[in-house]
Amino acid sequence: MRKIISAGIIVYIMAQTLCACGKQQPDGANKVYVGVAYYDQSDTFLGQLIACLKNSFQEYEKDGYEIVMQVRSASGSQRTQDDQVKELIDSGCNVLCVNLVDRADPSEIIDLAREHNISIIFFNREPVAEDMMQWDKLYYVGGPAAQSGIMQGELAVALIQADTGIDRNKDGKIQYVVLEGEAGHQDAIIRTKNVVETLKNNDIEIEKLSYGIANWNRAQAQNRMLQMISQHQNEIELVLANNDDMALGALDAYEKLNYTESTLPVFLGIDGTDVGLEAVRDSRLAGTVYNDKEGQASAIAKLAVALVSGKGLEQIEFENEKYIYLPYLKVTKDTVDEFFQKQSRN
Ligand code: GAL
Ligand code: CA
Repeated sequence: MRKIISAGIIVYIMAQTLCACGKQQPDGANKVYVGVAYYDQSDTFLGQLIACLKNSFQEYEKDGYEIVMQVRSASGSQRTQDDQVKELIDSGCNVLCVNLVDRADPSEIIDLAREHNISIIFFNREPVAEDMMQWDKLYYVGGPAAQSGIMQGELAVALIQADTGIDRNKDGKIQYVVLEGEAGHQDAIIRTKNVVETLKNNDIEIEKLSYGIANWNRAQAQNRMLQMISQHQNEIELVLANNDDMALGALDAYEKLNYTESTLPVFLGIDGTDVGLEAVRDSRLAGTVYNDKEGQASAIAKLAVALVSGKGLEQIEFENEKYIYLPYLKVTKDTVDEFFQKQSRN
C-alpha cells in the first residue's frame, strides 16, 4: 500500500514538473471563468474600465490559460445584480468581479459566493470595512479617493495662482460650485471634502455658492448647472466636478446659454475618460485627474488568475491583506498626450 502511495506521489510530482515546463496548469486550474457584474451600463468610466478588463484578461491566454469572461450590468438595481450574480455562479464562474450597485448592501452576494467558495474581487465601488471582513476571500481594487480630491485641488490652486483673471469680480475670493456624484459613494464624499480642504490649505480664499448632486451623469449635471447659473448668473468662477462627465455637463449648460469663452468659469473633472481627455486637450476642461482604469483592470485580472490557479498570490502586494489601490495622476493640457498614449497601449 505504502509503495503504491509513494509511486503515486512520484507520478504526481513528475506531472507537475512537466506541466510547469509547458506552462500548463494542473487540471482545471488553467480555466478562469470570470463573472463580472457592474452597476450601470450608462456609466462612461465603468464602460471603459470593463473594456480594459477584457484586454487584461485576454493577456493571460498567451500563458496557456483558458479565459471566459461574462459581463452583466444591473441598470442601477441591487436586486437585479444579486440575481445576476446567482446566474453567473450557476453558469460555472470560478471567480467574481463585482462593482456593487449599493456599496452598503453586499451581504446577499457575499453569502452566495461563500456557499460556492468563489472569491470576490470588488472594484470601484468600495464596500464598507465591516463587510469586507465578512469572509477572507473578499478583495477590493480601486483608486485612493482622497488622492483624487487632493490632486484636483492642487490643479485648481496652480491655475488660480497663475491666472488672476479667474477671480473675475476681483474680490480676492474664488466663488465656486461643486457637482457631486452619487450620495453615499466613497468617491463623491471623499473627493468633495479633499478638493475643498486642499484649496483652503493652500491659502486660496474660496466661497461656496452652491452644489448639485448629478450621479456621475452628464445630462443631470447640465440640469443642475442650469439651475445654479439661473441663481448665480456670472458669479461662478470655478466648477469642481467629481468626474469628467459632470464637468462636461456643466460646460454643456453654459454652451446652451450661449456664454462666450471670456465669461466662462474654470472647469475641473476627474477620470480622464476619452471625452475627458479630449476636452483637456481642447482646453474646454482646465484639467482632470486620471483614474487609472488600465492599472485597475490589470490588477483585477492578475488577482483573479492568481485566485483561480493558486499561483502568484504571494507576489501581489495588498494593503490590509485585501485592498489594492492604484494611484491617480494629474492631467493638464501639457501632459494630456501621455494619457492618450497610455490608452492606446492597452
Ligand atoms: C468613479 C468615477 C465615476 C463613476 C463612478 C462609478 O470612480 O470617477 O465617473 O464611474 O466611479 O462608481
Ligand atoms: Ca471672485
